[in-house]
Amino acid sequence: MQNGLDRYTVDQGTNLHRITLDGESIENVKKIMVEMPPNVEFDMSEDIAAEMFGTPSNDEIIDVCFGDLNFKIQVLSKENQHTCKSTGLMLWESARLMTSILAENPSITAGRRILELGCGCSGVCSMVAAQFADLVVATDGDAKAIDLLTRNVAANLTPKLQNKLLVRKLHWGNQEHIDAIKKDNEKGFEVIIGTDVTYIADAIIPLFDTAAKLISVDADTGEQLGSALVLCHVLRRVDEPSILSAASRFGFRLVDKWSGSGNRSCSSSIISSWFSKIILKDQIPSTALSILYFQRVKTDSEMKFIKDL
Ligand SMILES: C[S@@+](CC[C@H](N)C(=O)[O-])C[C@H]1O[C@@H](n2cnc3c(N)ncnc32)[C@H](O)[C@@H]1O
Repeated sequence: MQNGLDRYTVDQGTNLHRITLDGESIENVKKIMVEMPPNVEFDMSEDIAAEMFGTPSNDEIIDVCFGDLNFKIQVLSKENQHTCKSTGLMLWESARLMTSILAENPSITAGRRILELGCGCSGVCSMVAAQFADLVVATDGDAKAIDLLTRNVAANLTPKLQNKLLVRKLHWGNQEHIDAIKKDNEKGFEVIIGTDVTYIADAIIPLFDTAAKLISVDADTGEQLGSALVLCHVLRRVDEPSILSAASRFGFRLVDKWSGSGNRSCSSSIISSWFSKIILKDQIPSTALSILYFQRVKTDSEMKFIKDL
């Protein structure tokens, strides 16, 4: 190595001075970098750059605020979001809306056992629910999302609230994962929440199957006692009739429906009562959002099984 001068190039067109530093020891790279004039650019491998400056992070911290609650959430940085296959490394609009609703309406979660399906890395719904609920289990099927979620929960909740919020891997339909969650909470969940989890056609059946296995039901009648499954989403590749048809196969009856565009087709006013606070009306991030509120009743095959007994 002769002070790196053998790797020195000058682009005649742009007059850009450049030096290639691959294959050098870190000590030599440091020496060359301090010796070169300030107009010289350095070309180095990712390994050398990582050793010199630390591993570049693909994440960024965003500040999100729901009522009086402020969270600093680590998510995949914007420039990396469109190339990443995992949808769970960012915060979606439906989670923002649902979290605002939970923050403004503590009665939805107070004293209850809450399960979040496909919560992604942010965990904001679950973290707000943990302020009021007895137990919250925040789940996702993606290992990277779970990893980031664990860090976000640790960074934002007090130890007391962290004790109430369990982070678990749950791939919908995976019986081992479902059984592990049943061990944490044998009584089932009174409220199950999913935001933006209805966009993959093949995952709709396992989603409702999982919710049906984990929702709290009365041991004698099999009916739920006020337990609910709440889905908030922007409809994309799966339309609403397909979602409702899958829901009914697993005994989920649509009790109320709300749409940001103003279309309301159910007589129940459960969801509209959540919007009674003016502050919430200003926080609806998109008119494309909708909310489906289900309760579980016995399926036809369950009824037949009981009759045949
Ligand atoms: C569009 S993201 C929504 C994330 C979060 N709920 C939000 O609204 O910000 C969908 C989430 O569902 C998870 N997911 C998709 N398919 C799943 C499956 N079959 N089992 C478990 N999680 C799944 C993804 O990993 C991702 O975190």
